[in-house]
Amino acid sequence: MSAEKISVGKTGIETYSISNDNGIKAEIITYGARLHRLFVPDKKGNPVDILAGFDTAEGYKGENPYFNAVIGRVANRIGNAEFTLNGKYYKLAENDGKNCLHGGKEGFDRKIFTANLPCNKPNTVELSYVSPDGEEGFPGKLSLTVSYTITDDNALKISYKAVSDADTVFNPTNHAYFNLDGDFMSVLDHELFIDSDTITVSDENLICTGETVNVKNTPFDFTVPKPIGKDIKIPHVYFDNARGGYDFNYVLDKSRNKKLPVAYALSHKTGIKMEVYTDCPCIQLYTGNFLDGTLPCRRSCGYQSTLCLETQSFPNACNVSSFPSTVLKKGEEFFSETAYVFSIEK
Ligand code: BGC
Repeated sequence: MSAEKISVGKTGIETYSISNDNGIKAEIITYGARLHRLFVPDKKGNPVDILAGFDTAEGYKGENPYFNAVIGRVANRIGNAEFTLNGKYYKLAENDGKNCLHGGKEGFDRKIFTANLPCNKPNTVELSYVSPDGEEGFPGKLSLTVSYTITDDNALKISYKAVSDADTVFNPTNHAYFNLDGDFMSVLDHELFIDSDTITVSDENLICTGETVNVKNTPFDFTVPKPIGKDIKIPHVYFDNARGGYDFNYVLDKSRNKKLPVAYALSHKTGIKMEVYTDCPCIQLYTGNFLDGTLPCRRSCGYQSTLCLETQSFPNACNVSSFPSTVLKKGEEFFSETAYVFSIEK
């Protein structure tokens, strides 16, 4: 059991480590408040690093697809990089064609957070960042604290606490890229379960249109666990829009039992099972369809070599009045928590 600062890099990026006595250990860096490595024991007890990423903390400063970072202010795509709040129009940074993806040109993944090891919370590192009014076009000064904890019962808990000095929109997530085989070859053999039969429809630019669709008994249905690759080659316009894979937002049942996982992924090779618990209304399944293996990662990350299960609110909610609101009112406290819980396949 420990929480400690393990290094400070040339450019001032700090690396922290948190672990429990069962061999689960996370390394977290202040650049983007991101997970750098995550070791989980496999069925033989050997530690496996299940995250994509670079060798060094500085590596993330180059081109990278938000590897394992905290995303904000708003996860996923905001259509036309614009929205109107309280009658006022806001123009955001465009960084995905005409749209705003994952917070804009310099989202939270590109910010240095201030770290703290709270003495009253074991195996925890807290990372704080104050986003100035108008950053990337978003209104209000937003103060955010992200907390990572490794619990004795093998959970990596991520919580987000935020407050803004003016009405704003806010929808954070963590963009961890997992491969539970640990070899980063492919995630298509991973078994996947998602406790939702509804996705938000997105257009050819992956902008959520406001419609939802029931996907029971279609290739998008993971309510009955199946290998990710099982139906991925079935021709469908949704796959065409998402570069031949999964990149969809699943809507979770509001009245679900929050003590049950909303999703799990399982590697039969290592036996590592990862369950996801969250209080968020949605989860994005993304199978790394935009990766092509050209980044200098510590293990090459090719097309569909990784899996993201990003808990979030409804994408593009600031432009879709039928979606639950992502408005954070002035002075109101935002809190959200997601846990990735590890075990070995029985
Ligand atoms: C999105 C993908 C996007 C990726 C960026 C995911 O959260 O769903 O569409 O390309 O992030 O790395």
